[in-house]
Amino acid sequence: MSATLLDGKKLAAEMRAEIAAEVARLKTETGVQPGLGVILAGENPASLSYVTAKEKACAEAGMFSREVRLPGTATQQDVVAVVQEMNRDARLHGILVQLPLPKGIDERAVIDAILPEKDVDGFTPVNAGRMLIGETCFLPCTPHGIIQMLLRAGVETRGRHAVVVGRSNIVGKPVAQLLARKAPGGDATVTICHTGTKDLASFTKTADILIVAAGHADTIDGSMVKPGAVVIDVGVNRVPDATKPRGYRLCGDVDFDSVKEVASLLTPVPGGVGPMTITMLLFNTLEAAKRTAAAM
Ligand code: GUN
Repeated sequence: MSATLLDGKKLAAEMRAEIAAEVARLKTETGVQPGLGVILAGENPASLSYVTAKEKACAEAGMFSREVRLPGTATQQDVVAVVQEMNRDARLHGILVQLPLPKGIDERAVIDAILPEKDVDGFTPVNAGRMLIGETCFLPCTPHGIIQMLLRAGVETRGRHAVVVGRSNIVGKPVAQLLARKAPGGDATVTICHTGTKDLASFTKTADILIVAAGHADTIDGSMVKPGAVVIDVGVNRVPDATKPRGYRLCGDVDFDSVKEVASLLTPVPGGVGPMTITMLLFNTLEAAKRTAAAM
């Protein structure tokens, strides 16, 4: 079998067109232009490219964006001060602090400084807690993007076995919750695997839907996948490659060549989950702006 590729770029473009139309409508009807504040501290090259992509996407959707860049020597107080200032900036409906932050900064303390109503990443304890108990909240962008992909690709999750590899706060834990909740794109039976799991393959081989967010290239190969499974590769790894102009190539957490022979649907890297993550950030920022407009 050769898997069909789940084209995140195409799905993201469809959703972004819908979002741009809503942004234009909101501006015309209420005068509110959705705005996103982005904070980048340090010079992590991957973070820099994500932030650039987020800002470009905001502009294309007709949103306002404001970026503050801090040096790698910035202190926790410096970053928190920018968050607090963005909390007060009425042009901004959402705030995103790009992670990871430079060494020595307590990420939790910085995230806790974001007003929950501007937390479009869904990282504050208030939003994470609301998601857990099924209340209205901002869903974290990568997990929400994955669910939207499954829904739009017509993948049935109800009653299926979903295996999540990885237990991060950003992807593994929340995507497992979304897959298990009683809602469209949910109702799955979910297993979470992590670095403490013994015999990973014995679990992944039973997955109808396999979500891989381990943070390491080649975590999963074709022998670890059930024939016909849907495989979502969340990893973005830079592998040195002298034949590429930048000196590296991007690859996911799964061994694409062997998994594509076994899976029925597979997300490529790049062009799979990544574009959906940014799309859900736009979606949440629009939602935050709509709430502000409704309260005016
Ligand atoms: N770093 C990696 N993924 C993310 C994300 O979704 N949001 C933020 N703020 N930082 C990240």
